[in-house]
Amino acid sequence: MLYLHIEPDQQLWLDAFASEAPDLKVVTAEDNPDPDKVRWVAAWNPSEGLFGRFPNLEAVFALGAGVDAFVRRDDLSEDVPLIRLLDAGMAEQMVEYILWATLTVQRDFDRYQQLQQQQKWQEHTARLKKQMRLGILGLGALGQEVATQLAAYGYPVSGWKRSPLELEGVRVFTGDQGLDDLVTQSDVLISLLPNTPQTRGLLNGELLKKLPQGAALVNVARGVQVVDEDLLQLLDSGHLRFAALDVFHEEPLPPEHPFWTHPAIRVTPHMAAATLPEPAVEQVVANLKKLEAGEEPAGLVKAESGY
Ligand code: GLV
Repeated sequence: MLYLHIEPDQQLWLDAFASEAPDLKVVTAEDNPDPDKVRWVAAWNPSEGLFGRFPNLEAVFALGAGVDAFVRRDDLSEDVPLIRLLDAGMAEQMVEYILWATLTVQRDFDRYQQLQQQQKWQEHTARLKKQMRLGILGLGALGQEVATQLAAYGYPVSGWKRSPLELEGVRVFTGDQGLDDLVTQSDVLISLLPNTPQTRGLLNGELLKKLPQGAALVNVARGVQVVDEDLLQLLDSGHLRFAALDVFHEEPLPPEHPFWTHPAIRVTPHMAAATLPEPAVEQVVANLKKLEAGEEPAGLVKAESGY
């Protein structure tokens, strides 16, 4: 039996399971299931102690791409396979979000918004796609797809990854020097990195000041990667022009946080890429079959890297 823990839209997820795998018994907290009979858990935002209730867990499915809330937990042993979603409709939405942020700067929509408030008719010099260098931090399943699509659309795209990779149309950088090299030549820096001890605070003043004058930051990964005060300082000094932030140290973003009212910041409520029940459930069910057949599931999280 599979235990489902997700909010909101629980019914949509139950419906997706019923249509994708009619023979699979899926239960939720309301069913008050016998914990001994639960073999798998599929969850998002798992509550504290959730996994500890099930002594016979064979695998956990994270219903999202980032598994930071699933690793290093007292109630979940590293011996239980943890499987995350790969893309599942998220790449397309990420591309749209990044395009919106990129176009805001490229086509000066941020400036026109201000000019409208001042009732000023003033045109800015046009900038072409080829003049907007995009730098993507994190070339995992999502990052690779996003990078390829943005490159195909006509932007010069570079990406940064821990280990080397060949990716058509995308310049790939690795290592500390690679990170510096990518940042110094990115007009828009985009984070799609997983949340690990190495990426926490990575987007700090020291790194962000290496961006070219007037660059923009897009964070669609995790808020803890950004040092908020450093970002504010670089925006206030004018070194950076714009930031589109979808994720924050604390979510919901507290009402008193300066990001809410900063003229150069757009705040969105962790909506850049929603997990879509249908493709997500398809992946879970395909992976259940792989597990039953003794094969490695797609999206298996490696304990040593934590993603
Ligand atoms: C959302 O933040 C995800 O990691 O899927």
